[in-house]
Amino acid sequence: MTDTRLSFVHRFEPAPGAGRPPLLLLHGTGGDENDLLPLGRMIAEGSALLSPRGKVLEGGMPRFFRRLAEGVFDEADVRRRAHELADFITEAREAYGLAAPIAVGFSNGANIAAAVLMLRPEALAGAVLLRAMVPLSEPPAADLAGKGVLLLSGSGDPIVPTENAGRLAAILKGAGAAVEHRILPVGHGLSQADVTLAKAWLDSNSAKEI
Ligand code: MLT
Repeated sequence: MTDTRLSFVHRFEPAPGAGRPPLLLLHGTGGDENDLLPLGRMIAEGSALLSPRGKVLEGGMPRFFRRLAEGVFDEADVRRRAHELADFITEAREAYGLAAPIAVGFSNGANIAAAVLMLRPEALAGAVLLRAMVPLSEPPAADLAGKGVLLLSGSGDPIVPTENAGRLAAILKGAGAAVEHRILPVGHGLSQADVTLAKAWLDSNSAKEI
């Protein structure tokens, strides 16, 4: 059920058992808090799922930050919204008794997850970034040592050039994250390969954390 009690409208599904890190599910443009719950259940059976709805509206479509055009971001808003989302994570961790989550973001949701990693690294245990691009042209010097990031890009993605995704991988690696970047023969939409690779990566990362 959608919950409006914390600072983001969200859904929360408790973990069926202990031991797996929670997932923070971040939808793409025009999605909402319901969108990625089925994906979350598929890729991380035992995890709690926390799924907020982006607060920015673009022609009525929820997003996590403002953009000036496709692929051109209002970076002051990216920064402000990344902090706002990190504060929500703190609030939700207290309310639900959660460990730091692994973000699983698609498109706009992956971009805000990358911004949170750069600006508030302590908020996340790691991230699965599906079709992400560089969210900040001058990223701050973050310390991402000990954090794993799976970046899945599409070679035929009309929104995210592979060069841009490669730059994001390099920035995150430069900050100390253990980055696995795979370029799949797909476009911007999600594919079965995304599900399979994300599940395998989460299985091995969760096993490392226990
Ligand atoms: C963004 O605005 O974050 C990216 O262009 C992806 C999208 O939401 O279309």
